[in-house]
This record gives sequence, C-alpha cells and structure tokens, in this order.
Amino acid sequence: MEKNKKIVVGNMKMNLTSKEISTYLKFVNKKITSRRVVICPTSIYVPYFVNQNYFVGLQNIYSEEKGAYTGEISPKQAYSMGISFVIVGHSERRTLFKESDTLIHNKVKAALENHLNVILCIGETEEERSLLKTDVVIKRQIKSALKGLDSAMISKVILAYEPIWSIGTGVIPKKKDIEKTIDYIKGLVFQEFLVEDIPVLYGGSVNEKNIEKLNTIPNVSGFLVGGASTDPEKFLKIIEVAVGR
Ligand code: 13P
Repeated sequence: MEKNKKIVVGNMKMNLTSKEISTYLKFVNKKITSRRVVICPTSIYVPYFVNQNYFVGLQNIYSEEKGAYTGEISPKQAYSMGISFVIVGHSERRTLFKESDTLIHNKVKAALENHLNVILCIGETEEERSLLKTDVVIKRQIKSALKGLDSAMISKVILAYEPIWSIGTGVIPKKKDIEKTIDYIKGLVFQEFLVEDIPVLYGGSVNEKNIEKLNTIPNVSGFLVGGASTDPEKFLKIIEVAVGR
C-alpha cells in the first residue's frame, strides 16, 4: 500500500448473520473498489469476501503456526486463504479475553513472519486518560508489541490509536488531542525503532457524520471503523470522504 494515502479498515466484530452478510456483500462488492480499504469480517465469513477489489483482514490471529490449539487460526492458514491483514491487540481482546502484552507481541511477530500486514491497536482507558497516563500506556503497548522487530518488519505494521473510552460510545476526543497523540506515537516509533512516519489510524466512534471533521486531522493516516462498517451505506460514505472513489 502507498504510504501517503489514507486507509479505511472496517472491523465488523461479531456482527451480522449469513443472510445479512449476503445483502451486505451485494452492495459492498459493487461499490467498494479501492485497495485502500480493508474489511475484517467475522472469520467464518472470510471466504465470501476474498478476491474482491478491497483487502480482507482477520480480527484476531494466533501466534503458533499449527497444532492443537482448538478454535484458533494461524497466520499461515490466514495467508493461505488470501488474507493480507490482521488486527492484533484490539482492546476487546486485551480486556475481555485477557490478552497480555507478551501474547500480543508473539502474535505480531508470527503474523509478520507469515506475510501478513498487522494493524496493531493501542489506546488508553478513561481512567488512564483522566490520570494523564495516555502517553505512558501507549509507550508500553508499542514497545512491548514491537520489541526486537527490525525496521523492515515494522514497515508492515499500521498502528491504530483507539482510545477505549471512545469505542462504541459516540464520544470522540478533540481533534487536537488526536493529532497530539498521533504525533507522539510517530515520534516514539522513530525514536525506538528508527521507522519514520509509521501510519497511524484513528478508531473510536467513527461514523458517516463525523468523518468529514476527523478527516481534517493533518497527521491521521486513516480510520479503523467498528459499528459503522457493518452498515454498507455508512461505510461507503466514510470511504468516499477518506479515500475517495
Ligand atoms: P466503533 O467504531 O464501533 O466505536 O468501534 C471502534 C473499534 O473498536 C474498531 O476496531
């Protein structure tokens, strides 16, 4: 992907039934024809999404190549199915499924070693924000996830800054606060890993109404969209604003 254009990633989470997916696909496959778009459906629906004009990603991955890991999907299996991206370290995985920084690091490494691009999610809780700990939390998450990886590997990582208090709440940080945190993230990745201008997406309550405003943040590389990505018309509007037709 060219680095200087915006990217829109749809994280559909655990939404839509098979019937709803076929309606969704009829619209999306016709209208979304940009290689700047990554759709991450619930994994059982992946085969319906591959081989279109957008990229397909998983919402999660395991760190081992194969074996007795009931319920998991390996990076090698994902790649063999035409998947090119994977979301790692989403706050719902960190919180609800107790994923540790170490596990997240192992997943990032395994995914990169198996030709997948990684969308690494980072972000602070409401409490951490009120204690002014956003930078400290983000620094810990980034340093542990990317520890020991060389710059060629890190160049296949896209960061997604998702303040947890903004996910699914309709509450969005001020534009200048998002800009400041993205600046901090880019500076940190350069300082720690010598990778310049790593792409950083914003995620958290992005929708068809606020996208025009969010799209004016000068250093944002694109958007990670949850709820609004499950509604094809809303998702298309976000794509049109951020990526163009
Ligand atoms: P919402 O867009 O529903 O707030 O979800 C954001 C998110 O978690 C994307 O990964």
